[in-house]
Amino acid sequence: MEEVKKQIDELRSFLHAQNYNYYVLNNPVISDQEFDMKMKELQALEALHPEFADPNSPTQRVGSDISMSFAQVTHERPMLSLGNTYNEQEIRDFWLRLDKQLARPFEIVCELKFDGTAISLIYENGELVRAATRGNGVVGDDVTRNVKTIRSIPLKLTGDYPARLEMRGEIIMPRAGFEALNNQRIEIGEIPFANPRNAAAGSLKLQSSSMVAQRPLDCILYYVLTDDIDFETHTQSLDMAKNWGFKISPHYKLCKSIDDIFDYINHWAEKRETLPYDIDGIVFKVNNLAMQQELGFTAKNPRWAISYKFKAEQAHSRLLSIAYQVGRTGVVTPVANMEPVQLAGTVVRRASLHNADIIDTLQLHVGDTVVVEKGGEIIPKIVGIDEELRPEGAQPVEFPKVCPECGTPLVRIEGEAAHYCPNITGCKPQITGRLIHFVSRKAMNIESIGEETVELLFERKLISSISDFYRLKLEDLLYLDGFAYKSAENVIRGIEESKKVPYPRVLFALGIRFVGETTAKILAKAFPNITLLANASKEQLLEIEEIGDRIAQSVIDYFANLENLKTVTELRDFGLQMEQSAKTPDSTALAGKSFVISGTFANHSRDELKELIENNGGKMLSGISSKTDYLVAGENMGPAKLEKASKLNVPIISEDKLMDLINNTAK
Ligand code: IVH
Repeated sequence: MEEVKKQIDELRSFLHAQNYNYYVLNNPVISDQEFDMKMKELQALEALHPEFADPNSPTQRVGSDISMSFAQVTHERPMLSLGNTYNEQEIRDFWLRLDKQLARPFEIVCELKFDGTAISLIYENGELVRAATRGNGVVGDDVTRNVKTIRSIPLKLTGDYPARLEMRGEIIMPRAGFEALNNQRIEIGEIPFANPRNAAAGSLKLQSSSMVAQRPLDCILYYVLTDDIDFETHTQSLDMAKNWGFKISPHYKLCKSIDDIFDYINHWAEKRETLPYDIDGIVFKVNNLAMQQELGFTAKNPRWAISYKFKAEQAHSRLLSIAYQVGRTGVVTPVANMEPVQLAGTVVRRASLHNADIIDTLQLHVGDTVVVEKGGEIIPKIVGIDEELRPEGAQPVEFPKVCPECGTPLVRIEGEAAHYCPNITGCKPQITGRLIHFVSRKAMNIESIGEETVELLFERKLISSISDFYRLKLEDLLYLDGFAYKSAENVIRGIEESKKVPYPRVLFALGIRFVGETTAKILAKAFPNITLLANASKEQLLEIEEIGDRIAQSVIDYFANLENLKTVTELRDFGLQMEQSAKTPDSTALAGKSFVISGTFANHSRDELKELIENNGGKMLSGISSKTDYLVAGENMGPAKLEKASKLNVPIISEDKLMDLINNTAK
């Protein structure tokens, strides 16, 4: 036993260190594959030895399926915000005030103002015990489970850390991850996030931590609070925190004069685009902590710090027209075409409008003089109009009633911002969009077929439905322009190879609205073959923790469509993977035994327990009957189940007992 514990401990510290190298230092020293192998090893050992469970084990980074409404927590010290300044004079005023109050030389630390969402992290004896959002500054949401999935946040500290510590910082979503996430959202018919800040804040409040684990979040810390160490300066505390394993920005600078401060501002105003994440200004802090204490706080802000907000660069232009783009799921997105205008170093011609609500709020008219703004964001947005400059007779922009591509009346679902074209089978961009999605890398990954080939095959009437790919013959392709024998052969081979793509990716490739990569995996796990999924009722779908009404309805609608059913049947007959591949069980400890689980459990989510039972040869039943061998009972189990189990003499066992059953026979 001691041996196992040692092995687990070693794996945990090894993986903690690799996480730190990868996510904090950006300097991985082992391959991803090696990392995955070690992680799997640890997961297996932890499953076999629940007595050594640790809520801060690296395995907890993957999140779980438990859905949550957040508990409220009162901050030990209120999370104040900073007073804002917007111009040079206000910064001079801040400096003069400090000079007067302190009446001795002082240093200012300039830091970047990260544009995300504030977080408070509490560590006890080096372990992360709680993470909370700012909320109203006094009370915030307990988002610990979600925050644990962010790899750059240490779950265990290293070095000489204080026994009790609060770290504050910003959870951000780097731009590259933000763009990828938005592209995925647009792909599946979701409205994209307006900016990385909203995406970070929204991700942190997701109900399922396994969904959060998929979001590209990062965290930079900028404030150390502890009674256990007497730091002299703020920069000292940051340097220490770096040694404990936190990601601290390397871009802070000590300034001794007001000119140094302006140099820092000018430098970053110009260079902010070179950072991988958004900043919306600069923060100035008095470095000496005794001085900070002397200056104290007002009701809302510290007196020893202030922020300077970059002005979002604005320009005026004229709205020429609105283009309406139809995506593969039929969502119609308006895009504003404007007279070209110089803005923040680039020429801007188009601005995104996201949906009809924005057009209504702005009361846009064609020919209007519009104010475009480019904050930290890459895509400029229209933030206002100058009504006085509206030309005589200008027509208000009206969202079209019919699809600009196929003329079908558009529909808008109650409570949703988007308009859809319902002509799934006859609207060209929807058809080609679906075909392109099907062959794309994360779906069937048919590399030999790109967008242009799809368009060409569609034009030549060789494909119109995704199952048509599997009807293509070498001769069909040889007749096409630009197809030599070799490239035609490549296409056919790619199509053939795709028959091996596993079931969850096939589900994603079908292009069911709102079913992205993650949702497809969740659905595949809950319904291990396509027939089960196609026959699932809405209630059954809603029983899955991560599946809400919108996704459930979308799945129901997809399989209610005869055209789709025909396609799915054809794909199955062509030999595509339409069921979860059989897994070799971890052990046969529970072979021949059937289980029902009920209630909530201390160490595992219900889905995890289900998986454990099945991986060890047991069978899951949905209801108690005379065939049930065990009822695994957690907290808050319904009295009816308990009564039924007693009546039928079904043994009632705890989570721990289940683990014993698994471990006794498991090697
Ligand atoms: S210090 C008591 N430093 O800006 C001082 N804040 O209104 C605590 N922020 O809510 C804040 N970058 O979320 C500080 N380098 C930085 C920051 C920063 C971003 C955010 C923070 C805070 C808001 C200020």
